[in-house]
Amino acid sequence: MAASLPFLEPGQIGSLHLKNRLVRTATSESMAAANGDATDEHVRLYSDLAAGGAGLLITGHLYVEPRGKYKTRQSGLDDDARIPGWKRVTSAVHDKGGVIFAELSHAGSQSVVEGITPIAPSVIPNAIFGREPQEMTEADIAEVIGFFGAAAKRAMAAGFDGIHIHSGNGYLLSEFNSPHANHRNDAWGGDAERRGRFLIEVYKAIRMAVGSNIPVTARIGIADAVEHGLTVEESLDRAAELEAQGLDGIETTYGIMNTYQENIRPYVGVTPLRAIADVLPHRIFAAKVPEAYYRPFARAVKQRVKIPVILIGGMRTTETMADVLQSGDADFIAMARPFIREPDLPKQFAAGRRGLVDCVSCNLCLRHEGLDSLQCWRTPSRIVSHIYKYYIRR
Ligand SMILES: Cc1cc2nc3c(=O)[nH]c(=O)nc-3n(C[C@H](O)[C@H](O)[C@H](O)COP(=O)(O)O)c2cc1C
Repeated sequence: MAASLPFLEPGQIGSLHLKNRLVRTATSESMAAANGDATDEHVRLYSDLAAGGAGLLITGHLYVEPRGKYKTRQSGLDDDARIPGWKRVTSAVHDKGGVIFAELSHAGSQSVVEGITPIAPSVIPNAIFGREPQEMTEADIAEVIGFFGAAAKRAMAAGFDGIHIHSGNGYLLSEFNSPHANHRNDAWGGDAERRGRFLIEVYKAIRMAVGSNIPVTARIGIADAVEHGLTVEESLDRAAELEAQGLDGIETTYGIMNTYQENIRPYVGVTPLRAIADVLPHRIFAAKVPEAYYRPFARAVKQRVKIPVILIGGMRTTETMADVLQSGDADFIAMARPFIREPDLPKQFAAGRRGLVDCVSCNLCLRHEGLDSLQCWRTPSRIVSHIYKYYIRR
């Protein structure tokens, strides 16, 4: 019975065969050493996730150069010195039968690291933090494209199975794509084609670094959440161009956002029963926050390209996950927060677990980002969750 669930069936991205269609997508670990190296905590985190059975793991965003660092305790692939640390992580994952991609990123104007001058396509204050960036010169642009290629090469040396480009959620690549953040009128901005050139060139540099057989996917902001921003129509053309260039898969998300909560929505799928069980009195009578909130983006991209589409954003019940795949709106189901609380969700699903996952999207994990190592902070609710598991869910 369990094997008939579509997300437990094998999948393929590029030439890579995956044992199921469940993706633990990028979730910043906040576990790096002061110098940016991966640590024992990363090894434990990804080893547990691999043992938990997800078909594909994607790291948290790894900066490709120091100016692209988003926050403290973030790791990078900006230097050859990071290779041994990440090699330990990929080896641990492979030992457990897992597959892992490195998410390569540059924070652009969204960096909150003190002491650096953030760079961006234009001098537009960051939509979330208001920090004013420095406009990138042609030389900066060429340099950063090179940094992505170099980081991809390091990812290969560190044993990663693929690369996931972060071109969403307000970071540098999504800033180039966006008419809100990109006011240039040169080879890198001014119309849709020139805005999209940076992402295409970054993709090409990565492809050149990893060769034709390694899967390269991208998280792409399909539309901006801010006014006068990027439209779905523009992104669909970009998706088609990236497919023509050889991109192997697309994960859909927002581009420029007013707040992280627009992407990381609180209390998704929480029913009154779960609100009681998890001591969330303010959610007992609140309207249910809908699951699968990027489904319209995924559907639109699926109608335009043939490469696999990965759906992230509020996937909380096995019923919705199955429905998304059966309807053809996406090819893979990705989750971030549910895997923090339950790294072994795929194994549980395979063993017959159905319905709602335990994560209530309280976003305490997000509040601790950059300060404390990634974990589920709803520990006081352990007893409650025991009651839920044994008396309510049964
Ligand atoms: C603590 C935390 C860290 C995150 N870090 C990243 C990241 O490094 N890269 C990224 O692309 N998205 C990151 N995200 C966003 C998630 O990948 C995802 O888009 C979002 O949480 C919605 O999916 P979910 O409902 O399955 O959690 C993060 C989310 C959380 C809660």
